[in-house]
Amino acid sequence: MASQNIESVLHEERTFRPSADFVARARIGTARFDELRRHAAEDHSGFWARLAREELSWHTPFTVSLDESDAPNYRWFTDGRLNVSYNCLDVHLAKRGEKTAIVFEGESGEVRRLSYRELHAEVCRFANALKAQGVGHGDRVAIYMPLVPEIVIAMHACNRIGAIHSVVFGGFSAPALRDRIEDTGAKVLITADGGWRAGQVIELKAAADKALAGACSSIERVIVLKRTGRPVAMQPARDLWWEDAVAGCSRECAPVWVEAEHPLFLLYTSGSTGKPKGIQHSSGGYLLGAKVTTQWVFDLHEDDVYWCTADVGWVTGHSYVAYGPLALGATVVLYEGSPTFPDGGRFWKLCQDHRVSVFYTAPTAIRALMKLGDEVPGGYDLSRLRLLGSVGEPINPEAWVWYHRVIGGGRCPIVDTWWQTETGAILISPLPGVVATKPGSCTLPLPGIEADIVDERGESVTDPHTGGYLVVKKPWPAMLRTLWGDNDRYRVNYWGKFDDRYYVAGDSAHRDEDGYFWIMGRIDDVLNVSGHRLGTMEIESALVSHPRVAEAAVVGKPHDIKGESVFAYVVCRGNRPGGDASALMSELRDWVGEQLGAIAKPDHIRFADNLPKTRSGKIMRRLLRSIARGEDITQDVSTLENPAILDQLRGVEAPAGA
Ligand code: WT7
Repeated sequence: MASQNIESVLHEERTFRPSADFVARARIGTARFDELRRHAAEDHSGFWARLAREELSWHTPFTVSLDESDAPNYRWFTDGRLNVSYNCLDVHLAKRGEKTAIVFEGESGEVRRLSYRELHAEVCRFANALKAQGVGHGDRVAIYMPLVPEIVIAMHACNRIGAIHSVVFGGFSAPALRDRIEDTGAKVLITADGGWRAGQVIELKAAADKALAGACSSIERVIVLKRTGRPVAMQPARDLWWEDAVAGCSRECAPVWVEAEHPLFLLYTSGSTGKPKGIQHSSGGYLLGAKVTTQWVFDLHEDDVYWCTADVGWVTGHSYVAYGPLALGATVVLYEGSPTFPDGGRFWKLCQDHRVSVFYTAPTAIRALMKLGDEVPGGYDLSRLRLLGSVGEPINPEAWVWYHRVIGGGRCPIVDTWWQTETGAILISPLPGVVATKPGSCTLPLPGIEADIVDERGESVTDPHTGGYLVVKKPWPAMLRTLWGDNDRYRVNYWGKFDDRYYVAGDSAHRDEDGYFWIMGRIDDVLNVSGHRLGTMEIESALVSHPRVAEAAVVGKPHDIKGESVFAYVVCRGNRPGGDASALMSELRDWVGEQLGAIAKPDHIRFADNLPKTRSGKIMRRLLRSIARGEDITQDVSTLENPAILDQLRGVEAPAGA
């Protein structure tokens, strides 16, 4: 029967409860969790206002919790004033001034530690340097740097003086940097002579020069950090070395108290779905979201060593490297380079050497490292790990279970955290001391988050395993405020679908009998096969659970009879199949048929050495869709990490079985 709802065919039965040891020490236990949820249900804005008073230090206390007068442009804590760097640094000086804030390891292995006192001094010094360059309240500053402590220093220096930072991931190319600078109208660009990645120098300054050539007329000054020491061209009228900019600057800088709604930063979303959008985040609401979710989800204790592997160029590196953990006074590991340099054990060596206890990474990294075999992590002491996290895409149960068994030694809870650049902070995730986990499910919404799944008419979908639109029914403090320079697009894109009533995430999801959320992927990644709507992620998960498969991406291809047929790109463990390709193909089709039902069997399978990915590791499905349809590629491929793969993917496809 043709169905309007998205059908879920992936059923995962395993459940993992937190150990008694973990529960005994957890920051949030069942009683506190219930109390938070009850308060949020009774008084939504009052709940968040209470947390904002308890958790943040305000220069001017707020009296307005939530201003809905311009909905869906919601505003939180509007008449309060605060400073974000003050809340992440100054508040710790008395109690933990000598505690390590950042442990940095460069790709070549050098280690640098900054205490909270040192980080505070560096931030103040650089804030004074920015002021000397004429940067002030409301000015935009673009940051295009490697993952070194100075990127965090630059961000906090900006917010200390009320400037708005816009970090552009160092892996982006010159055209991507130029587009973003032009959209923000940034006055200053902060970059470096280069950075290290997989033993190579990433030529950031050269890319910055290319981006600025004949464009970006708003840029008055380029501040350049020396990282590699390789010679770069400097334009004396425009460019200034970081060390010269801070020379003679004071290590004290009074914070500028900004309104809670003052923009803290702009961050452009990855190009996997068209023209990048400048997501605008606030100061007060954003910081509150980043701080409390770090506390709730990562259960940080004073002695934890916390490592989130995300680059600061992505939202994860904003909320869960630069802001949330520092607001909590945590010790944060920062690693500049590649996960597989000089070999596939680098992440595990870092965990061992820095005694990492809380580790947060992405499924794409987990799958890549899983592919290398259990012996690699087996060579390191990972016994300090006590909690693991995952973010960025649905984690397929096979990878989840491997992560749990091999990295976590079977003892660490896994928090699968669902959120978006737009949401600012984690919205759906287990609390590790409270919620039993199921591989592949991000479990339950956090307290204060009214997430739901609705059908085309906006009605709640309550039947288990029936998919729909993932929405949030009430505003939350860390949500995006608008799209920079395009509020109409903000309103239409995120609120238009259900007449401004709900925030529409653009993901499809379903719930199980326990009310657990299962993300099925982006709405536009949903296939319609013979009237059955199938999430691509479920088919991918089934493929990846086959022992020969390392990675898979599934797209729809128009089909005369079925509407859409299932087209799968498969990366094998070890070598790409040669002579046995067609045998393996029919084996994989049967395998998926067994796991999910015949309807989900791939009609086409194409083997490849790799998948096309954005530099944040997201599979570029729209590209794969064009290739599957035999269309010319007209999309922007400037954000593609590995352009050479396109030719292979376009190659002749061996016929799949009947
Ligand atoms: C999209 C947001 C949030 C930081 C990194 C990505 C997907 C994210 C999960 C998860 C399933 C997930 C969603 C979401 N996603 N986390 N735990 N399970 N899907 O930020 O680039 O803004 O992407 O990533 O599709 O909408 P982003």
